[in-house]
Amino acid sequence: MKKTARAHTNIALVKYWGKKDKELIIPMNSSLSLTLDHFYTDTSVEFKEELTADNFSLNGVSKDAQQITNFLNLVRKLAGITTYAQVDSTNHVPTKAGLASSASAYAALALAASSAAGLTLSKKDLSRLARRGSGSACRSIYGGFVEWKMGTGDLDSYAVPFQEEVDWDIRMLAIVLNDAEKKISSRRGMQTVVATSPYYPAWVKTCHQDIGELKEAIEAKDFERLGTIAEENAMKMHALNLSASPHFNYFQPETLVAMQLVEELRAAGIPCYYTLDAGPNVKVLCLEKDVAQIKAKLAEAFNQEQLLLAAPGPGAHLLA
Ligand code: DP6
Repeated sequence: MKKTARAHTNIALVKYWGKKDKELIIPMNSSLSLTLDHFYTDTSVEFKEELTADNFSLNGVSKDAQQITNFLNLVRKLAGITTYAQVDSTNHVPTKAGLASSASAYAALALAASSAAGLTLSKKDLSRLARRGSGSACRSIYGGFVEWKMGTGDLDSYAVPFQEEVDWDIRMLAIVLNDAEKKISSRRGMQTVVATSPYYPAWVKTCHQDIGELKEAIEAKDFERLGTIAEENAMKMHALNLSASPHFNYFQPETLVAMQLVEELRAAGIPCYYTLDAGPNVKVLCLEKDVAQIKAKLAEAFNQEQLLLAAPGPGAHLLA
């Protein structure tokens, strides 16, 4: 049976940055994200008796399937099957947008592969499964604001929806700065930080506080508080990278230009806040009513084609 699933990317407002268990992908702290509408991955999976290995194509191009095979082995074990699969993925995450496509990729694969194998997993178990592919993927099972509860191990580390229907006009404007390959993967970056940053214990402690306050801000629809918490949490994450040994960072000169423009907008009374992940692109959190003014200001340094707008999006679902 061939099954096709769609999953959207998410942007973390309180970030996941460190693992307690590398094999099972258990994080050091809980995280909270917003699933985005415009950026998603469609994946179809079909287990076929005649195949002698898993086949994987991305955007129509055949790719090495080792990571997919590792993930499908989890699904085969759950379903009690041994057949190989044909996996075809299309990324609708604009290339170079710096929006983690591993989140939408593994959330879509978890849903398509488990369904094609004849399993009907609960959302909790789907989230646990997606987590094994890439930590941030466990949050893309749900739409809107989503919390990944760190838990203590495989059974209790999964995402739960915090506010699935977002009935306010929060937006995320991604500023696409650079198409260079990521120098240091999230996986390696967070591992270095956990092992060497003297500030790591403070990060874990303050993330716990940040999640509590962020939830209050979301419930109160207090955008300025939400933005402040998200921006400060992102800067704390990047401070870990600067304090690691060897130290590293994801900033490009234009990253700092974008951050400064956002600060100038804020000084001029427009509420907008930045967040950054494991790459140079800056993502601006804002309200729909301010998008035009923010774009006009960013035009001082960037082309309109570099600006990609997203709104809250839905959770992973089957298309066919
Ligand atoms: C900075 O989920 O890509 O985007 O679990 O090793 O695959 P792995 O890492 P990944 O890391 C995402 C890190 C982040 C913050 C976040 O999304 O919470």
